[in-house]
Amino acid sequence: MDELERIVEASKLTEEDSRTENLRPKNLDDFIGQDKLRSNLKVFIEAAKNRHEALDHCLFYAPPGLGKTTLAHIIAKEMGGNLKITSGPVLEKVGNLAAILTNLSDGDVFFIDEIHRMNHLVEESLYPVMEDFELDIIIGQGPSAKTIKLPIPHFTLIGATTRAGLLSSPLRDRFGIIEHLDFYNIEELVHVVNRSAAIMNIAIDNDANEEIARRSRGTPRIVNRLLKRVRDFAEVKGGEITYSIAKEALEALEVDSAGLDKMDRLILTVLIKKFGGGPVGVDTISAVISEESDAITDVYEPYLIQSGFIARTPRGRVVTETGYKHIGVKPPKNLQKELF
Ligand SMILES: Nc1ncnc2c1ncn2[C@@H]1O[C@H](COP(=O)(O)OP(=O)(O)OP(=O)(O)O)[C@@H](O)[C@H]1O
Ligand SMILES: [Mg+2]
Repeated sequence: MDELERIVEASKLTEEDSRTENLRPKNLDDFIGQDKLRSNLKVFIEAAKNRHEALDHCLFYAPPGLGKTTLAHIIAKEMGGNLKITSGPVLEKVGNLAAILTNLSDGDVFFIDEIHRMNHLVEESLYPVMEDFELDIIIGQGPSAKTIKLPIPHFTLIGATTRAGLLSSPLRDRFGIIEHLDFYNIEELVHVVNRSAAIMNIAIDNDANEEIARRSRGTPRIVNRLLKRVRDFAEVKGGEITYSIAKEALEALEVDSAGLDKMDRLILTVLIKKFGGGPVGVDTISAVISEESDAITDVYEPYLIQSGFIARTPRGRVVTETGYKHIGVKPPKNLQKELF
């Protein structure tokens, strides 16, 4: 899977960042959808600004591509502070953390992506920082070792994770604002298509934007990626993105009407044709389609489950009635509907 990157992959692909940076909303009013989260954040930001305090530490958890990093940029801008970005695995030692923290100023935002992957020593040293803005540094070794408390500016920590379940509770409890981002509905995704098309300066039909939205797996990052590829087709054909060009392009990219790609459909087909719809264990699926089981659990399965094509049961994965219909196979009469 490494050499052949999937167009419907929700995580970032290599070299994608700089080319999509201008599509990132710059302030809360530009940020589409997530209405509850947005209105909450507006209140929290305004209140913190009125008190001349840093915003409370925020934890955002959501699947890839839904806007966690974008929110960190927006918050820093709205609070008028600088943004410092790092990620859990990069903070290998307490020293790495100390170097960043001591360079912050009051009101800055420190963003830790993949915060669930932080080394536990680094994580523990973050606790007093989050609570009291003090970093404990141990100087010396053995009986003569001393702890000194280093004052840290009043900043806002923003943590992002795709796996809230992997976060320890002492860490989670130290965030004042904990928010989950949901997959976007079609209407919101259409809005994302239109906004990005306007920034990219391309004309797009009303049916075409909906077609792209419907195949984007509820994810703005995929909207932007599909839109760029569809634009290529439109440009070659000499102009705007019409419904038929969008459809033709998406078919050429092998992204189907529900946003599934070849691999997703292969998994569904194998489950149906080789295993009578399941239940099948992930390791068995992995052996049959020659893909690592981690990739199945982390990359393919979440969207298939979220869109109701397969279900996870204690005995393994099963194809639902919707899953059968999508592949065009009649579901067996004894399909246990109560499971879903
Ligand atoms: N609410 C939104 N409105 C408009 N565009 C959005 C929105 N959320 C995300 N995007 C677009 O999707 C892209 C991906 O978003 P972002 O990088 O914030 O995702 P993420 O949640 O941090 O993903 P990851 O878990 O992979 O780090 C952004 O570049 C931005 O253009
Ligand atoms: Mg991110």
